[in-house]
Amino acid sequence: FTGLTPEDSLYRVIEIVIEQGQRLVPILEEGRLTGVVTRTDLINWLVEEPARIPESLSQHRLRERRVGSLMRNRLPQEVYSLLQQMGRLARDMGYTAYAVGGFVRDILLQHPNYDLDLVLEGDGIEFAAQLVRLLGGRYRSHKKFRTAVVILPDGHRIDVATARLEYYEHPAALPTVELSSIKMDLVRRDFTINALAIQLNPESFGELVDFFGGQKDIKERVIRVLHSLSFVEDPTRILRAVRFEQRFSFRIGSQTERLIRNALRLNMFHKLSGSRILQELKLLLEEDDPLSCLWRLEHLGVPENIHPLLQITQNKQEILEEVGRVLDWYALLYESPLPERWKVFLLGFCEGHDIKECRSLLQRLQFSPKQEQSFLRMVENVHQARRDLSTWRKGKQRLSDLYFILSGLSIEAELYLMATGRTELIRKQLSHYLSLLKNTRIDISGEDLKAMGLTPGPAYSRIFQEVLRAKLDGEVRDREAQLNLARELIREEEQG
Ligand code: CTP
Repeated sequence: FTGLTPEDSLYRVIEIVIEQGQRLVPILEEGRLTGVVTRTDLINWLVEEPARIPESLSQHRLRERRVGSLMRNRLPQEVYSLLQQMGRLARDMGYTAYAVGGFVRDILLQHPNYDLDLVLEGDGIEFAAQLVRLLGGRYRSHKKFRTAVVILPDGHRIDVATARLEYYEHPAALPTVELSSIKMDLVRRDFTINALAIQLNPESFGELVDFFGGQKDIKERVIRVLHSLSFVEDPTRILRAVRFEQRFSFRIGSQTERLIRNALRLNMFHKLSGSRILQELKLLLEEDDPLSCLWRLEHLGVPENIHPLLQITQNKQEILEEVGRVLDWYALLYESPLPERWKVFLLGFCEGHDIKECRSLLQRLQFSPKQEQSFLRMVENVHQARRDLSTWRKGKQRLSDLYFILSGLSIEAELYLMATGRTELIRKQLSHYLSLLKNTRIDISGEDLKAMGLTPGPAYSRIFQEVLRAKLDGEVRDREAQLNLARELIREEEQG
């Protein structure tokens, strides 16, 4: 068991608590115990402190490399010339512009990604304003963070941030260091592969800025954090690490995985707001292969740190796999309506739990009361529809009954029902509904009813519903037959 003196660096405390798992560090003066730093003290300090300089900052910028020709080859011509234009504008304004983050990573990985993130050494908002003056479009700015979002006339979105020169002090007695602004910006980022920048000014266009070995990690296919406090500062990065690892078939580096486990052991998720978790969880579930992300999270022990319902039991695993299959099937066949995939998975996490337990999950994820109500209603609708479907029989019952069991449901609920349909029959019914029944429209309109002399009112929707029912059941196939039915129904309405 290790003790420290008041002169020791706080980093020593971090090492002992995080890496050796000691809950309490005694502080000794001349061999006498004069105080302790507890794990809670440390966490409170870490959470309140702004980003600190990581150990790796003392390094110089790594080997410089020009990626201009790579950009020319891998980017669409219009994106490439846009970058050049922005570089010229930055130069004319006396600024330096960089493309950063996922955009740069994806150029090196040859993954198409045209979400442009810019960092300006200069005034980012002023740059956005000038860019809009030059190219048209519009921009929104966020003065407090000195950021702006530019929407070009073609709908292309560019995020612009401002980097600034800052002076940072080491917690211990090391000298204050001055960092170039772009370096300061990159050091706050999550992983080395996301901490790369490309210069855009004409004189150095295409120069890759790599302080932390991002190029090497892309080559070696590793997800690595920039410093050991990364997950403590921002635990959502644990979800991001898994997301990038699975998306690119990389692996989380062993040291980084150890830091994840440490952050989990320190219960870092407990302090994290539900809305931030939900935001990352949505992104993860919208990935092409969300299941592999989920299994990996389970393997790391993440879900139990967020909410017990997110733990993947055998039964849930099967359901989630089926949800994944149904979503892929649907995406192949249909373009709209587009389901919010994450909601279908979330229904899977709620399976087998009562409303109270589901609500507790939604509350952990900070659903607004309205969102919570609508999601819980969807859960109940799924249960109801499942009961109704189990008694509906083809040939014995009408197609319109099937239609009305399902037509009030959201697409997410429909797909979820399909995934959890226990029998082949139920799946067939759902598939039949989605491919044929769902888009059935009647061939008469309000104008027709008006022409028949019916005063507009609630009778209209009753008549439409009845005509639709008859059409679904093959009783009135064409417009003529539907008009006749409508006339008959109007007569009935009039007779009360
Ligand atoms: N970032 C970060 N920590 C976070 C979120 C974001 O450091 N918790 C940084 C990363 O450098 C990231 C950049 O902000 O590259 C932009 O974030 P985002 O758009 O979420 O990431 P991308 O890398 O662009 O991911 P994707 O390809 O999924 O859009």
